[in-house]
Amino acid sequence: MGKGRIALVTGGTRGIGEAISKALKKAGYRVAANYGARDDAAQAFSKENDIAVYKWNIADFEACKKGVEHITKDFGGHIEVLINNAGITRDMALHKMNFENWDMVIETNLTSCFNMSRLVIDHMREKKFGRIVNISSLNGQLGQFGQTNYSAAKAGIFGFTKALAREAASRGITVNAVSPGYIATEMVKAVREDILEKIVAQIPVGRLGEPEEIARAVMYLVADEASFITGETLSVNGGQYME
Ligand code: CAA
Ligand code: NAP
Repeated sequence: MGKGRIALVTGGTRGIGEAISKALKKAGYRVAANYGARDDAAQAFSKENDIAVYKWNIADFEACKKGVEHITKDFGGHIEVLINNAGITRDMALHKMNFENWDMVIETNLTSCFNMSRLVIDHMREKKFGRIVNISSLNGQLGQFGQTNYSAAKAGIFGFTKALAREAASRGITVNAVSPGYIATEMVKAVREDILEKIVAQIPVGRLGEPEEIARAVMYLVADEASFITGETLSVNGGQYME
């Protein structure tokens, strides 16, 4: 399926990104996995899966530029599949939030989509092929207590996805969003136990999702055959109600 295409997964070494990196590799893509800080986790992931890892901060445009150049050199070609997956939370009520907590979440979750997409789009346009999948969130659709920063960033991803999809459509590039509900990763395990229990009780399927269940949706969208699906959001949330 992957035909040896070059794929980059941001935050591709842990959690949802790890599952996406593995699924892409299994399907025959040549995979690069980015990460931000956790060298131990990245090295273990790389060794176990034989996938090259690249450390940089996706919120920093110049760092992204160097990272993309490094991958292009190592792989001897340009990125054809970009999964904008890396993200963070800094949960607290707005009346307790300072500018840094706001800005860091917006830069890491939303501005990173600009940074990375801007750096791959020219070559995708030239090649008349590209796949961009942005990982948003159910909480960008619903809003969540304690997440004005995160919900705003994730909601912004929907607008970014739809606008870029229009611009890129005539060049064989599709741009879609996957919107996970609550998935069993370290990000969710950081939620206070009593609050998480209440959240899980609201999921019709009755459990947290697994990272592999998100990877499955991503694989559907990146396929060459998914060429007529663009500007869409694929929700993967165990049936949680959406307004
Ligand atoms: N809904 C309604 N009321 C809530 C509430 C909630 N979820 N959480 C707290 N409150 C209330 C408290 O009962 C309390 O009320 P009183 O003042 O009347 O006693 C008040 O708000 C203040 O509570 P806290 O002091 O605990 O609030 P806080 O500002 O310290 O932060 C919080 C609370 C840590 C943000 C907590 O609400 C929380 O963890 N919420 C869930 C956030 C969440 O779902 N995060 C998901 C992370 S994973 C992820 O984001 C992945 C994804 O995309 C799905
Ligand atoms: P996670 O387990 O916390 O993993 C996050 C990954 O992103 C790690 O590889 C981390 O690298 C990387 N990362 C974080 N900040 C970075 C930065 N500034 N630069 C480069 N890499 C960075 O998170 P997850 O739960 O898998 O979430 C992945 C994505 O799905 C996020 O965008 C998240 O918002 C979204 N999402 C998650 C859920 C969920 O329930 N888990 C639901 C909806 C959407 P390090 O290892 O170096 O820290």
